[in-house]
Amino acid sequence: MAFLRFSITTDPHYPQALYRLTKTNQTLLDLGCCFGQEIRTLVVAGAPSSLEQEFIDLGYELFNNKGKPHFTTGDFFDDATLPPFSETKLDMIHSTSFFHLFSQPQQIAAISKAVRLLKPKAGSILFWRQMTTDTVEAIKHPATRLGEMYRHTKVSLRNLLEQVVAEMGVGTDCEVADAGKVKVGESVDAFWLAAFCVKLL
Ligand SMILES: C[S@@+](CC[C@H](N)C(=O)[O-])C[C@H]1O[C@@H](n2cnc3c(N)ncnc32)[C@H](O)[C@@H]1O
Repeated sequence: MAFLRFSITTDPHYPQALYRLTKTNQTLLDLGCCFGQEIRTLVVAGAPSSLEQEFIDLGYELFNNKGKPHFTTGDFFDDATLPPFSETKLDMIHSTSFFHLFSQPQQIAAISKAVRLLKPKAGSILFWRQMTTDTVEAIKHPATRLGEMYRHTKVSLRNLLEQVVAEMGVGTDCEVADAGKVKVGESVDAFWLAAFCVKLL
């Protein structure tokens, strides 16, 4: 089951994220966490914790640990959704298979919003994995917001990141890592996830 990949442990930023959560009391949002398996991985590894409600309930049922990690639900594009985070800001945001769900303008809006939710200090980090393909294309996808997904190559996504952070006027280091690739599924349509990060300088 694709939603039960515990992929955060293979992310190059995982060791530092776990250290920051367990030793320096920093905060991390797993954006679009679905059943919450990545957050649960961090909690089991020692991190303290605080979805669509249905996914949260299914996750509690699946992992038989009702109430353990704390989840917040809502539409990420809706500014009313994230009051705790927009006030206090976050040290780290992690995400898997979220940003690729949207059209190009929505991806720009979501990445900008995530970067704005970070504490404005050196070391704040947004790191994520998303699908990449060999060619850039917008495809119809009825299950997604507005029914369209914009598929990036690693190069086009890196260009988009640089454009977004340049327009926001924040000092950043953008990384695109090959090390974190994960193959999903076995069919001919199987795609790859690649690892990206935006780190504030
Ligand atoms: C493809 S799933 C990925 C789940 C998980 N990160 C994983 O890799 O197993 C996409 C997730 O994004 C969430 N999501 C989709 N659109 C969203 C939005 N507009 N605001 C907040 N969450 C959203 C869904 O509820 C789901 O949890």
